[in-house]
Amino acid sequence: MPLPDILCEVMQNKLVHRHFASPMLRQVGFQVARVKGVNLAQGLCIMPVPQCVIEAARGAIADGKNLYAAAQGVEELRTAIAGRLASFNRMKASSEQVLITPGSTGAFEVICEAFLRPGDEVVSFIPFYPYHRNTLARRGVTVRYVQLHRPDWSFSRDELLAACSARTKFVLITNPHNPTGKVFSEDELQFIGQVCTERDLFCVTDEVYEYMTYDGRKHISLAALPNMAEHTITMSSYSKTFAITGWRIGYLVSPPAVADTLKTIADQMFVCPPTPLQHGVAAGVRELGPQYYSDLLESYEKKRALLSNALLESGFPHHPPDGAYYIVAHTSERFPGISSEEVVQRMIDECGVGAVPASDFLGPQVLGDPEASTFMRFSCAVPDEMLADAASRLRSW
Ligand SMILES: Cc1ncc(COP(=O)(O)O)c(C=O)c1O
Repeated sequence: MPLPDILCEVMQNKLVHRHFASPMLRQVGFQVARVKGVNLAQGLCIMPVPQCVIEAARGAIADGKNLYAAAQGVEELRTAIAGRLASFNRMKASSEQVLITPGSTGAFEVICEAFLRPGDEVVSFIPFYPYHRNTLARRGVTVRYVQLHRPDWSFSRDELLAACSARTKFVLITNPHNPTGKVFSEDELQFIGQVCTERDLFCVTDEVYEYMTYDGRKHISLAALPNMAEHTITMSSYSKTFAITGWRIGYLVSPPAVADTLKTIADQMFVCPPTPLQHGVAAGVRELGPQYYSDLLESYEKKRALLSNALLESGFPHHPPDGAYYIVAHTSERFPGISSEEVVQRMIDECGVGAVPASDFLGPQVLGDPEASTFMRFSCAVPDEMLADAASRLRSW
């Protein structure tokens, strides 16, 4: 029986770099395991899950909350999220505007299904989060990239304006940004918002790292800025916030004009995310107070400092991330003229630490600045002992 085209291309390795991120991640995983090293490549988020979340999910299963949920999600969870949107994100959105999805990945699938057809265009930033790029590529959409520039990952406003065309369906941002750790400033968000309102475009914003912003920075949700609620679809999830990346509980928040359409599409695509796990997350959103979120931040700030110092000492300069839980370290000072793939390979072989090379976040894009493609990304979302092990291996490399 013939394989569907897309599968053939995967099997022949053609799509490996073009569409699907991560044979690279898998390869790094295997190789680090082979040398019994420390893998800081994938952002798995190996962190403690809040006890109340675990207990509530267990309780929900035992109480028989095991059937399909309503297509838009369990009401307690939507109401709890609407509360957080008001108190933390400063967004005015009712629980009817909240749609629970299988992770923010599921939210993005729903949005793409609703808005995009082959030949459409999306404007986004590069380096990119590979799942976004791959999802858009699978749908035959052209992405117009705006480059984030080292050292502080700023962008040219003219480049953003030039990237928008009559075919643009939305502008996509990730804030805080993966991989760079950029936290978009209010001024930058206002500019992006102005571009979207003037051209009557949606902005789709991925805010899964919203609780991880460092050095006193505040997370600003685009939808909370004046006039932006009608032009913004916000995606987020509890994967990172509660360290439950395997539960697949995320959400999107959309203007009332499109909320029903998105709900219908989500119903057709997934029916619903796991019902008892939605109850578990609802308990966490309701019950965990400011202390939980400040402890989370403090723990990530310590991890960031530990890894950042080790990388600096071993010759990999970087702009400390303003948000999210990754560090993008530059390789060309210590290894001039060597690709980031080779540097990662040497790092695994010689000191047993795994990271993701730049190519996973750039694809075949040609950047104006060749220096922009000599970096590797490390995840800090691992237990302290694991990070300390990686830090000491890097220092002695
Ligand atoms: C920017 C970004 N968005 C979305 C996700 C996936 O989130 P979820 O588990 O909610 O699908 C990740 C995970 O690494 C991410 O980095």
